[in-house]
Amino acid sequence: MSIPESFQGRLRLPLISAPMFLVSGPELVIEACKAGIVGTFPALNERSSEGFEQWLIQIREALDQFEQETGQKAAPFGVNLIVHQTNPRVKADLELCIKHKVPLIITSLGAVKDLVDAVHSYGGLVFHDVINIRHAKKAAAAGVDGLIAVCNGAGGHAGTLNPFALLSEIRQFYQGTLILSGSMSTGQDVAAAQMMGADLAYMGTRFINTQESRANPEYKQMIIDSAASDITYTPKVSGIWANFLKPSLEIAGLDPESGEKKKVDLGEELQAPEGGASAWKSIWSAGHGVGAISDAPSTAELVDRMANEYHRAADQFATQAAQFKRSAS
Ligand SMILES: Cc1cc2nc3c(=O)[nH]c(=O)nc-3n(C[C@H](O)[C@H](O)[C@H](O)COP(=O)(O)O)c2cc1C
Repeated sequence: MSIPESFQGRLRLPLISAPMFLVSGPELVIEACKAGIVGTFPALNERSSEGFEQWLIQIREALDQFEQETGQKAAPFGVNLIVHQTNPRVKADLELCIKHKVPLIITSLGAVKDLVDAVHSYGGLVFHDVINIRHAKKAAAAGVDGLIAVCNGAGGHAGTLNPFALLSEIRQFYQGTLILSGSMSTGQDVAAAQMMGADLAYMGTRFINTQESRANPEYKQMIIDSAASDITYTPKVSGIWANFLKPSLEIAGLDPESGEKKKVDLGEELQAPEGGASAWKSIWSAGHGVGAISDAPSTAELVDRMANEYHRAADQFATQAAQFKRSAS
């Protein structure tokens, strides 16, 4: 077990609400942190670095006020930086994260030692997304504090490996914080992630269906109506293999079985106009866990529910394990 010291005493559940392009903003982050789980968002969800700084200020002020009013500690928050040559904002956004001492930076695509050193200089942490052992070893060598094992069935740019396989291979060489990502929707799933050897669970799709997410009502309804078989894994939408809701691909007239693989271009994705068929805006991403989602409650209500499920699952497991222990002795 390796939960960072700066997280200890601040979490009600070992859970991170994962960053989601166009979906997670300050509303979701603030409610997640107040409810006792780590709230995160991609810096690119605000259209400019100036706007991004305003979000950082808004989150800090809301969480400070919460702590003063309740005497409770809010969970830490995090920002996702996409380290790719087509992201023109990485440098400016990182400088703002340093200026505002963002507690957690989540990097995806590139793991860069200079970035890790810059975040460590103010006491921040860096977690990095990985989908295979090669990426995990590179990120570990760059000195990251946590590895996020993005497994088969995750929403967004998912991997293809089974979670048992990826977690146990990473644990053989990495002793830092290990975070499991992909297809979890309940408190029982969070307990299962810990039993599998993860320190923290990382959930995206479940948080699309909350009142505070920025997803539109049609997107949320499509998640409620969908099952794992409605998810298509394709590189044709954003240039990187990712999971998308099949009905949204059909509405956009995109056939994932034909056509060219798209070139990765974050600048283009950011500027895509409203209305047309575009990755993330009208072609919606979700993970295999959609089948367990049937509502869109407030984040506070969802975290309450998951905390109950988590403790029930832990108690049931303890009872079952005790029975096996008795019969074995
Ligand atoms: C709509 C959507 C957008 C996402 N955007 C990002 C992103 O901008 N950056 C990132 O690191 N991960 C992104 N992800 C991946 C999530 O951070 C997380 O790894 C994933 O959602 C976990 O799997 P789950 O959705 O099955 O819970 C996105 C996922 C979804 C569903």
